[in-house]
Amino acid sequence: MNSGEIRQNFLQFFQEKAHQLYPSAPIVVKNDPTLMFTNAGMNQFKDWFLGNEKPAFNRVANSQKCLRVSGKHNDLEEVGVDHYHHTMFEMLGNWSFGNYFKQDAIQWAWELLTEKFNLDKNRMYVTVFEGDTNENLSYDQESFDIWSALIQANRILNGNKKDNFWEMGDTGPCGPCSEIHYDMRSDKDRNLIDGSTLVNQDHPEVIEIWNLVFMEFNRKADGSLVPLPAKHVDTGMGFERLCRVIQEKKSNYDTDVFSPLISEIARLTNKTYEGTQSKKDIAFRVIADHIRTIAFTLADGQLPSSNGAGYVVRRILRRAVRYAYSFLDTKSPVLFQLIPLVAEQFKTVFPEVKVQEQFIAKVIQEEENAFLRTLEKGLDHLQVALQKNSDNKPLDGQLVFELYDTFGFPLDLTRLIASENNQFIDEPGFNDALNKQKERSRADAQKETGDWINVQSEISTRFLGYDKLTCEADIIKYRSQVAKGKTLHQVVLNYTPFYPEGGGQVGDTGFIIGQTCGKSYPVVDTKKENNLIIHLLPQLPENVNQTFTAKVNTDKRTLTTRNHSATHLLHAALRQVLGKHVAQKGSLVNDAYLRFDFSHFAKLTDEEIESIESLVNEQISKNIALKEEREISIDDAMAQGAMALFGEKYGEKVRMICFDPQFSIELCGGTHVKQTAEIGIFKIVSESAVAAGVRRIEAISSKEALTRMNSQEQTLAQLQALLNKPKDIPTAVQKLQEELTTLKNQLAQYEIKEIAATKQQLLSKFEQINGLNVLVSAIDIPHADALKDLCFQLRNNRTLTVGILGSIVQNKPILAVFTTDDISEKRVHAAQVIKQISKHIQGGGGGQAFFATAGGSSPSGLNDALNEGLQFLKSIDA
Ligand code: SER
Repeated sequence: MNSGEIRQNFLQFFQEKAHQLYPSAPIVVKNDPTLMFTNAGMNQFKDWFLGNEKPAFNRVANSQKCLRVSGKHNDLEEVGVDHYHHTMFEMLGNWSFGNYFKQDAIQWAWELLTEKFNLDKNRMYVTVFEGDTNENLSYDQESFDIWSALIQANRILNGNKKDNFWEMGDTGPCGPCSEIHYDMRSDKDRNLIDGSTLVNQDHPEVIEIWNLVFMEFNRKADGSLVPLPAKHVDTGMGFERLCRVIQEKKSNYDTDVFSPLISEIARLTNKTYEGTQSKKDIAFRVIADHIRTIAFTLADGQLPSSNGAGYVVRRILRRAVRYAYSFLDTKSPVLFQLIPLVAEQFKTVFPEVKVQEQFIAKVIQEEENAFLRTLEKGLDHLQVALQKNSDNKPLDGQLVFELYDTFGFPLDLTRLIASENNQFIDEPGFNDALNKQKERSRADAQKETGDWINVQSEISTRFLGYDKLTCEADIIKYRSQVAKGKTLHQVVLNYTPFYPEGGGQVGDTGFIIGQTCGKSYPVVDTKKENNLIIHLLPQLPENVNQTFTAKVNTDKRTLTTRNHSATHLLHAALRQVLGKHVAQKGSLVNDAYLRFDFSHFAKLTDEEIESIESLVNEQISKNIALKEEREISIDDAMAQGAMALFGEKYGEKVRMICFDPQFSIELCGGTHVKQTAEIGIFKIVSESAVAAGVRRIEAISSKEALTRMNSQEQTLAQLQALLNKPKDIPTAVQKLQEELTTLKNQLAQYEIKEIAATKQQLLSKFEQINGLNVLVSAIDIPHADALKDLCFQLRNNRTLTVGILGSIVQNKPILAVFTTDDISEKRVHAAQVIKQISKHIQGGGGGQAFFATAGGSSPSGLNDALNEGLQFLKSIDA
């Protein structure tokens, strides 16, 4: 079976067992402060497990794109060194939400592996949770009993909390699990050492392939375990490992999931892959692994950046670049050339890469170029430091920081290179240096969130804000969060008109008013965490049990809504004018303006901007009525041509926003105008680049556009008045400019003449002092540059000459000292003289031995300064 068939068979098997096929969630997580990337299939179902939301199905099967490079589950160090860990992998899963439990989960797993995939029962081991007294958890007898009916008892092993109690993170749903391991060793090895002793011992050929988790608890922030409202099943099978086992390969990289990539890397780098543990072969595997991660995170909308999830992507990319550079000798970008293959490989399962192929490749190429510019220098720098640092001391943290800060070396890259040289790094030292630089962001990160306090048993919020801006509401639960020393209370209501920040649109603000106490409590923002709508209140009502009136700030909402609808029109117009490659890469919509980032490769021309703007304004003036479908099935919406965003998680039922089916149909959760004319007018105010292949448009509409028009009109009126009411302002300004140029030229001519006259006068003022021709004088000049000119003219073709000149230009005293080259600087040093005399004008300056200038603030001291200069020249030796 090839990998495509294996995936298909898995899904079909569970489909036949009444499971609904469900799409993978995006790999980049939004709306969840505890997680940057999807690290397990269950992430998207967290609220179904916790009971925060009613499951749409009670049985589901899918393949989920997962990333394990940060947080609790992090396999990065192993990747490429071994043959079965990956940064990005597909997790095949079947799910029960309060439906079947251990019996069916175990029975079906066994049936699929042994009957459909024909795996050898004599190579399998399973584990069950042995219990944990500290946590008050007992031995999983039920799983043991179920397995006993299927497999010999000596193949059922006990597992401890570390291996057999699965937790998503520090908090969240969790429960005991039962794993299935497969022994791929040769018969000889299997006879020599019993496989049961190698389970969970990191043996490269005795590997875990499937984990069946029985979700029963919620781990709270205080560490306690609370039973979930219902019991669920979450199974996760590593797709790449399954392929290896079924295809009987020694390495995941030898399966058809990776072998095309390995061959392509060989072709591009002119190297041969031999599957060994050499640096070269590790590089092959690292690159084959990392390119998938990079492609999928970019496809789901995460651009590389210098912090958060974007920095994780950049770190992985740079890690791959360095492997290619050091061990496959590639000195120019190579990773981006693998994208067409990744796109092709996944085009039917995860088409998001194919659709954005060009964009993804472009971003990677730019990143590669940028890092290659500093990589070589950084490696040299590091190499020198490693050589100097032979005596088992950690590598200086400050140096590691410098590599990070100046050469763009992520910490883990430096750590890796150090370890290749049998050295280690001073991580606390690095962190100190980093923290010093980031004092502020460290404060940002310090957030403390309390546990939820339940007020009512209801679990979910009904959002009414598409139709209403005010409603009655009860508090279901609340908690507080302290960040940067400020406390905000997070309040969940049973009904709410408040739109939570999402889809680029900012969260609503407003008030909740206690119906018993009559007091208003401001809501300063509204956010979404998973599927909970959270209202942020600086002050928590004393009585949380009363009924409230929730009231949205209507002005702000109305203006924001107009900008959101304008964004849809803009998006459609961009695709019409620039082409279908335009895909949304980010957006911000608030009451003041809208910002829209999209993939496109060139700066927009003035004509393009004008066409886009008029196309949008045309749609506004057509006064198109909004067509909104709140609960349309995703398949129907797509069939009607709706635009979905990459990296956005859509459920079975979606909301579709349409302004003329021929013009704009998008899947969107935001708020929209009923008729396009409400937007009034649309104006693009800027167009710029944000990243490789990503452009940004900022635009305004309705009130803001009008305000801008008015203020521009005022400016014009002022200009008109200033210019004496000309018929045509640009012509009048042009005329003024021409006059100005003529006057400037005339003035320059006069100045030349004046300087020449001054020079003539000065020539007669030279006196002989101590064998030098000395000129000390206050003069009239038009500007400071003229003084310099004059000095150089007076210096020219003369011998043994010293001049000290002073002038007052625009009420400010200036001084200059010059000498001819035949006077040694030991006798007269212009810069030293200027330093000495400029104190009289309360100024300072400097220059060289033969010419120096100073400016000051006290014009009355000019004569004293000149005098002191003269006295000095009289005092020096002849
Ligand atoms: N949540 C479990 C895991 O990720 C099973 O899917 O291993």
